[in-house]
Amino acid sequence: MPSSLANPESRTPAFRLAVLASGRGSNLQALIDARRAGGLPADIVLVASDKAFAPALQRAEEAGIATLALDPKDYATRAAFDEALFARVAEHRPDLVVLAGFMRILDAAALAPWVGRMINIHPSLLPKYRGLHTHRRALEAGDALHGSSVHYVTAELDGGPVVAQAEIPVRPDDTPDTLAGRLLGEEHRLLVACVARIAEGHIALAESTVLHDGRPLAVPLRLQGDGQLA
Ligand code: GRF
Repeated sequence: MPSSLANPESRTPAFRLAVLASGRGSNLQALIDARRAGGLPADIVLVASDKAFAPALQRAEEAGIATLALDPKDYATRAAFDEALFARVAEHRPDLVVLAGFMRILDAAALAPWVGRMINIHPSLLPKYRGLHTHRRALEAGDALHGSSVHYVTAELDGGPVVAQAEIPVRPDDTPDTLAGRLLGEEHRLLVACVARIAEGHIALAESTVLHDGRPLAVPLRLQGDGQLA
């Protein structure tokens, strides 16, 4: 398979994805697997990380995808790191950048040119529980439902317009780990579905409004049992 997992027979230029990940990379793997199975109309052209030993980079290498690791310690400021990172990402001409477990707060100026072309997956039903420890916080609040959100990235941490969510029921005996474990499979399906819908041109960001087939989205789409968004 070619390095970008490209389909050499496709006639229109493929939608190009860059994925940024700091760790495990199971969401990246879901995108790779979906692409291979024909369920994602996009080529993953780059996987970049702030951690040279991130398992996500290994997954990318195994799939023949170009990788990039930059160490924040080599840069004087967060802004300098982000500028360098996004300059390198831009060389790969992505149509969409996917933050999939990228554990850094982004500098607003470096981010600005990418607003509308960058999404993040966050493990809570936003606007609840921005930031860390979302599973524990959902349990502590006694929530009956927990979930994950895909949102456009803006300078506000986990605060950009939400595209779609996946929900799961919280069980009485759940711990943060069991909740996270049960949610993860839903996250994978949610991310693949969102990236596919964006790549197909059904979803876009206009100012701070998510458009779905050209119409403002009043509430986030929801992942259905069949893996579709509605
Ligand atoms: C996911 O739970 C995602 O929602 C959050 O970080 C985790 C990344 O997991 N942003 P993985 O590295 O994709 O396995």
